[in-house]
Amino acid sequence: MNTVNVALIGQGFMGRSHSNAWGQVAKFFKPPLKPIMHTVFGQPEENPRVFADNWGWKNASTDWESLVRSPDIGLVDVVTPTYMHAPVAMAAVKAGKHCACEKPVDATLQGAREMAEAAKAAGVKTFVWYNYRRVPAVGLAHRLVRDGALGQIRHVRATYLQDWAGESTPLMWRFTKELCGSGAHGDLNAHIVDMTRFVTGQEITEVVGAVAETFIKRRKLLRGVAAGQITAGLQSSDEEGDVTVDDTLLFLARFSGGAVASFEAARQATGNQNRNTFEINGTKGALKFDFERMNELEFYDATRPRAVQGWTTIMCTHGGDHPYVANWWPDAHIIGYEHGFTNQAFDVLKVIAGEEPTLPIPDFADAYQTQRVLEAAMISAEERHAVKIADVK
Ligand SMILES: NC(=O)c1ccc[n+]([C@@H]2O[C@H](COP(=O)([O-])OP(=O)(O)OC[C@H]3O[C@@H](n4cnc5c(N)ncnc54)[C@H](O)[C@@H]3O)[C@@H](O)[C@H]2O)c1
Repeated sequence: MNTVNVALIGQGFMGRSHSNAWGQVAKFFKPPLKPIMHTVFGQPEENPRVFADNWGWKNASTDWESLVRSPDIGLVDVVTPTYMHAPVAMAAVKAGKHCACEKPVDATLQGAREMAEAAKAAGVKTFVWYNYRRVPAVGLAHRLVRDGALGQIRHVRATYLQDWAGESTPLMWRFTKELCGSGAHGDLNAHIVDMTRFVTGQEITEVVGAVAETFIKRRKLLRGVAAGQITAGLQSSDEEGDVTVDDTLLFLARFSGGAVASFEAARQATGNQNRNTFEINGTKGALKFDFERMNELEFYDATRPRAVQGWTTIMCTHGGDHPYVANWWPDAHIIGYEHGFTNQAFDVLKVIAGEEPTLPIPDFADAYQTQRVLEAAMISAEERHAVKIADVK
């Protein structure tokens, strides 16, 4: 079997989920290329050798610049804080490596654009880990829309709500604009912008209005390394620093097919730990998805006689009908968060080998389109006016 040597740059939360995916993918799927978990990068204080041994990486490195240029490496997987995406990914693609990068594709629009341009010039394959596309229920939603089950789409309503960023959460990199670009917006709206573009098959053409707020403007500084943790176990010092990103950003938008849309991202939406949802209403039917019930998709078929119309809850666990499921467990033996990443690893390997992915997969150029929408919403919130996506480049 042909192989590809993978280098993983970062070993935090996403470092763990990607390590799991690279370790699982050839066990559950039959990819055309087998990934070799060659080397993981971590900062010296993280002791990457311990991480490597735990997750099955052959080698550990504290020098990403040499690693991404190494002739031994074929695919670079970037899971650093967002401000490091462009420097690492650009070095990788310029060295002729295929590159898979976490989302949002970069902290700045300029970085995202330069990544797309560099990838095109290098002629390598690139991927962005908008992993929710690879949840079988979301894949089914994409296929139902593609096959016309919704008719003309009129409304798109998407929310991504979390509640971990209370007063006691210290000033990790996710609260500093230079390190992440934006707060809940780039972290969470990025996913629902990508997911609704994917499901509707349409582009967002205009942000009509937006509101952003930072409720907690100063936080205690972090003590020690906090990689791999969202909040649990973080140690804070007595000193404080400024929060320079949003806690929440809501915006209204228009899609290319004429639908109107609302998006809401929040980190202090008490009662919602990871409530990633969309509802899409068309002239013939409607769809609802909620990641907290990720094995299910709700479908309303408005072409049935009115007397029997109603929401149908579809268990998206049937191998013959739902994407990726045949490679996991028997019907209704449900899957979880980590499976989306393994499903994506399978498609990354297919594309590198020259095959079609199971479902469309975003590359740097596609993720740049999502970044333009995010940028438009930030401009709209700051300057309080509508912004056409065509004017954001
Ligand atoms: N796809 C998703 O659903 C999802 C979920 C969470 C995070 N993310 C994204 O993944 C990325 C990483 O997030 P995380 O939660 O894993 O972060 P994390 O803080 O848990 O881990 C970050 C890792 O990057 C390394 N790192 C830190 N500074 C670095 C630097 N200057 N140079 C090189 N490496 C550095 C750290 O050593 C650490 O191993 C972010 O872009 C984030 O937006 C995506």
